[in-house]
Formats: sequence, C-alpha cells, structure tokens
Amino acid sequence: MPSLVPPAIPVGSLAASGQPTLAVGGGALLRPWLLSDAEAVAEAFRDPEIQRWHVRRADSVDEARGWIQRWQGSWGEETDGHWAVAGAGTGTLLGRLSLKAWNLTDGSAEVAYWMVPAARGSGVCPRAVTALADWALGEGGFHRLALEHSTANQASCRVAVKAGFEEEGVRRGAALHADGWHDMHLHARVGRD
Ligand SMILES: CC(C)(COP(=O)(O)OP(=O)(O)OC[C@H]1O[C@@H](n2cnc3c(N)ncnc32)[C@H](O)[C@@H]1OP(=O)(O)O)[C@@H](O)C(=O)NCCC(=O)NCCS
Repeated sequence: MPSLVPPAIPVGSLAASGQPTLAVGGGALLRPWLLSDAEAVAEAFRDPEIQRWHVRRADSVDEARGWIQRWQGSWGEETDGHWAVAGAGTGTLLGRLSLKAWNLTDGSAEVAYWMVPAARGSGVCPRAVTALADWALGEGGFHRLALEHSTANQASCRVAVKAGFEEEGVRRGAALHADGWHDMHLHARVGRD
C-alpha cells in the first residue's frame, strides 16, 4: 500500500553519513562507543542508581562488550544511535547518551542517558543532551525527540528541562521497575520549537 508522504529522513541517508562525534563543551564530547569502554560500562552498571533507572546490571566485562557491539551496529541498521560521553582530552568515560527507537517516516526518536557517579553534578549531562538534540533536529534531519523518565526521578526531569525538552504530560503506570510500575513523565523537543 503506497504511502502518501515521503519519509522525513530518507532511508539509508544516516547510515551513509556515518555517526558524528559532537562537541559538548567544558572538556567533554560525544563519540561513538569503543570496545575498550567495556570495563567502564560494566563498572557503571554496578551503580545502584543506574541499575534502578535502567533496570539492568552487567554481570561481566564480556557482557558489556556485547552491548557495545550492538550499540556500534545499530547506526548502520538505522534503528538507534548510541554515544559515549567522554573527556575530550582523556577519553575517560563520563556517561552514555542514546537516540533510540528511530522512526524514519515520522523523523522521531527517544533520548536516554546516564552519567557515571563521579561525573554527576557538573552540568555535563544537560549540555550533552542539548548538543545531541541540536544535531539531531538540525543536520540529523529528525523532527521530534521524546524524552521520558519516572516521575520519581527528579534529577532526570531537571536534565530534560535544562536541555529544552517541554513537558507534555504523564503516562500512568507506563514502565515496570524493580519496585513496581512507575508513572512516566514525557518531555519532547520538536523541530519547530
Ligand atoms: C540523571 C543524571 C543523568 C543527571 O546527571 P547529572 O550529572 O547529575 O546532571 P546535573 O549535574 O546537570 O544535575 C541535574 C539537576 O538535577 C538536580 N538533582 C540532582 N539530584 C537530584 C535529586 N536527587 N533530586 C532532585 N534534583 C536532583 C541537580 O541539582 C541539577 O539541577 P539544577 O541544575 O537545577 O541544580 C544522573 O543523575 C544519573 O546518571 N542518574 C542515574 C541514571 C538515571 O537516572 N538516568 C536517567 C534515566 S531517565
């Protein structure tokens, strides 16, 4: 059944252009994942806050390496983009930022993030989300970026607001966490914003 609208992002265009490295400022950047990040990822997933909000743990460095391989492959498959937030000079892992669940027809995707405990409280996360959203809604060709967090996660809500994601409402009982169902607060940035 032919569509009456062309896709917002032509199929194959993002895969062909390759995953960009983006400046964040303040000594940080967003870069594609490296297999050598596996140990730092496994360590990050030992943090109770990351386990709490991302609802998984890594049992070994090998398992984290497998995640990184999937994160690296998803750009070429045009399903998701995953970046490491890293020190610009040092390469040290500061956190993770993802643009998940691409819908090329609607030009939409979902933003997700965590920061390692030592890198929190420095304002890097909202700057990195802003840099990624600016790229995605500009050169990347996306039209709408959604961002949602549990209503119990106030730090994440602040990141969303600071990065310019307007509040759109609460999806009741929308996500299962280890302690039960959570209401999810939805934010979004739309190209026309
Ligand atoms: C959410 C997270 C990425 C934020 O990163 P961060 O480096 O702390 O971000 P910032 O330093 O910019 O701080 C964000 C804001 O949250 C506030 N904040 C931090 N912890 C808070 C808390 N427990 N309750 C309320 N506000 C909090 C900070 O004061 C800051 O607000 P301000 O700039 O108005 O002062 C980080 O806390 C994290 O990785 N948490 C665990 C994983 C997670 O929650 N991921 C998101 C899932 S949706």
